[in-house]
Amino acid sequence: MAESKYQEADIYGKVLDEMLGTKWVARKHFWKARTDSSNTWAKEEAKKDAENVLNGALFIAEEQTAGKGRRGRVWTSPAGENVYMTLLLYGPGIQPDKASQLTLVMGLSVAQAAAEVTGKSAGIKWPNDVVFSGKKICGILTEMQIKEGKPEYIVIGVGINVNQKAFPEELSDKATSLLLETGREADRRIVVARTMDCFERNYELFLENQDLSLLKKEYEKLLLNMDREVRILEKQGESRGIARGITGQGELLIENPDGSMRKVFSGEVSVRGLYSYV
Ligand code: BTN
Repeated sequence: MAESKYQEADIYGKVLDEMLGTKWVARKHFWKARTDSSNTWAKEEAKKDAENVLNGALFIAEEQTAGKGRRGRVWTSPAGENVYMTLLLYGPGIQPDKASQLTLVMGLSVAQAAAEVTGKSAGIKWPNDVVFSGKKICGILTEMQIKEGKPEYIVIGVGINVNQKAFPEELSDKATSLLLETGREADRRIVVARTMDCFERNYELFLENQDLSLLKKEYEKLLLNMDREVRILEKQGESRGIARGITGQGELLIENPDGSMRKVFSGEVSVRGLYSYV
């Protein structure tokens, strides 16, 4: 019998090949039982990829010992329950200032996939938190290496709470999992495959204009902040306004109390609901 190219403990392996509906995204996928961070692992592999054969490769870890969140936070990554994966886009041919929009493209993809897998509607809290019943099920961290003014590679790291049964007390009002929302375990391979299918479709639409203009409608359908009053937390202080959608660049459009409009950029502000996280 021919030897499998996948490790025995790799639950994704050949099954993921069969489940994927993509042309190129995640068609190469790698698995480790444990790594520090799948983003760090993907970047190390990208550095060695002189032949540029890893565009679209997916790096999946069963457990992360130093999972990274946004703003220097830790992403706790226990084994056996969740998905920790990083998609590598090598030589993506986009301008460096567009890379942050890919986080929204991935957020939309996870929300679409999670809805398909659970049969329940998932929402997005701008810019890219995927939310069920007001609590987060997914975090995304995008990192980029620039060479001669262009992105040499971009890694998009995605952590999805799939079958986690409980969260530490300090997170329990902010975090949830697909299991806690539906009462049944989800197959992590299907979650990964559907997310990659949605990402490939969304990313190709993104590439057409190198912005979110073709995805805006779909994104706004899922945007939980839409037409709701939000608190905008900036370095200078807090203000309020009504969220009216996103721009093609992924900024949140805010209607100020005096009726004027402004745009806020995700790198600079956090947005919260008036009384809760969303
Ligand atoms: C956030 O703070 O919301 C972003 C969390 C991103 C976590 C994922 S898990 C897979 C990938 N590897 C990491 O170290 N971080 C991302």
